[in-house]
Amino acid sequence: MMKKATIIGAGAMGHGIGELLALAGVDVTLVDINEEVLNKALERIQWSLGKFVERKRIPEEDAKNAIAKIATNVNLEEAVAEADLVVEAVPEKMELKKSIFKRLDEAAPKHAILASNTSSLSITEMADQTGRPDKVVGLHFFNPPVLMALVEIVKGDGTSDETVDASVELVKKLGKTPVVVRKDVRGFIVNRVLGAVMNEAFSVVEKGEATMQEVDAAVKYKAGFPLGAFELADMIGLDVMYEVGKIMEAAYGDVAKASPMVEKLVKEGNLGQKTGKGFYDWKVGRPRIPFRLAGKFDVQRLYSVATNETARLVHEDVANPDDIDTAMKLGTGWPTGPCEQADKLGLDKLLAKLKELHGKYGDEVYRPCPLLEEYVSKGWTGKSAGKGFYSYG
Ligand SMILES: NC(=O)c1ccc[n+]([C@@H]2O[C@H](COP(=O)([O-])OP(=O)(O)OC[C@H]3O[C@@H](n4cnc5c(N)ncnc54)[C@H](O)[C@@H]3O)[C@@H](O)[C@H]2O)c1
Repeated sequence: MMKKATIIGAGAMGHGIGELLALAGVDVTLVDINEEVLNKALERIQWSLGKFVERKRIPEEDAKNAIAKIATNVNLEEAVAEADLVVEAVPEKMELKKSIFKRLDEAAPKHAILASNTSSLSITEMADQTGRPDKVVGLHFFNPPVLMALVEIVKGDGTSDETVDASVELVKKLGKTPVVVRKDVRGFIVNRVLGAVMNEAFSVVEKGEATMQEVDAAVKYKAGFPLGAFELADMIGLDVMYEVGKIMEAAYGDVAKASPMVEKLVKEGNLGQKTGKGFYDWKVGRPRIPFRLAGKFDVQRLYSVATNETARLVHEDVANPDDIDTAMKLGTGWPTGPCEQADKLGLDKLLAKLKELHGKYGDEVYRPCPLLEEYVSKGWTGKSAGKGFYSYG
């Protein structure tokens, strides 16, 4: 039973994770580099709890109880001395995270689980800094943690089943849906599939085959995704997209090449919504994406790439189709999961599209995953054939 948790780094993610744990009755200590940041984190939590009360999502009593459960401390060693769980949420820099894990291992009780909220870095590398790799795990919350339903639980090479089970139980207790990522692959599930789709959207525009408004109109109005690809990139922040893009390229090479368009904008200081300009000009308000452009770009191209990346995840035994679909729907707001969608569209058609694109451009990203070839050769072409990623009774 986890009674005490310490969060290292009380920024955008850390304060939200602390709030969630406190709402679930856990005693929380927030750690950051100075009092000023910690006070700001407490203010953000107060504000968020106030919104929940205002919208009648929780009674005022619960908000009061939650805030009473949160302490702060600038001394990491002191703050973790009695922790059952530590969640690290410091900036996405491996050297920093490694040094934190070393300190956590020395200062936290032997039974404590040490988790990282990293979006893209290796859990195994962090675990290697400790004498308890079996108790190190990825707990990848989505932003904002209090509202997003998904948590990816990432198994490092040495993570034990007990640690995964305890993490699943905890995530459920927080009212969230856990999806276990069975292997410590870069990008886990959501950022890997989403990254492939975003890269393809960028690539279409880089190749001059459609404009960004045409791509975004098709993505929003034809595919029914909540946001256009370029609109979403601007909202995430192009600096974040660029950093994650580089990590993915380092891990997967030509299959996940970072976009030169994003790099150019970042170097110009145009980081998206937060700086007022990215792909779109946010100074004039939210982007207006004309409905009349929705038919100008064929979204099957994005589905083909999503299906290929999904097939790779299944092939590498990172996750099963059901978990991938759940993760993509809850983590990104996609109306259907990529496996359901592929089965509906026909794996044979999507494979043919990939082959066509691979023949035309030679880009590695289009090289069909062997699993997809295998499914189609067996006649498992999707829903109408009775079997694809799923079996239909
Ligand atoms: N922001 C997102 O959308 C998002 C989503 C999922 C995961 N993540 C991951 O969560 C982690 C944190 O991201 P964020 O957006 O909350 O960053 P952030 O910059 O908002 O917060 C990081 C906090 O860590 C503190 N910090 C830095 N060094 C520290 C140290 N040595 N000890 C204690 N605190 C220290 C900073 O002062 C800051 O308050 C990253 O690994 C990121 O990849 C972010």
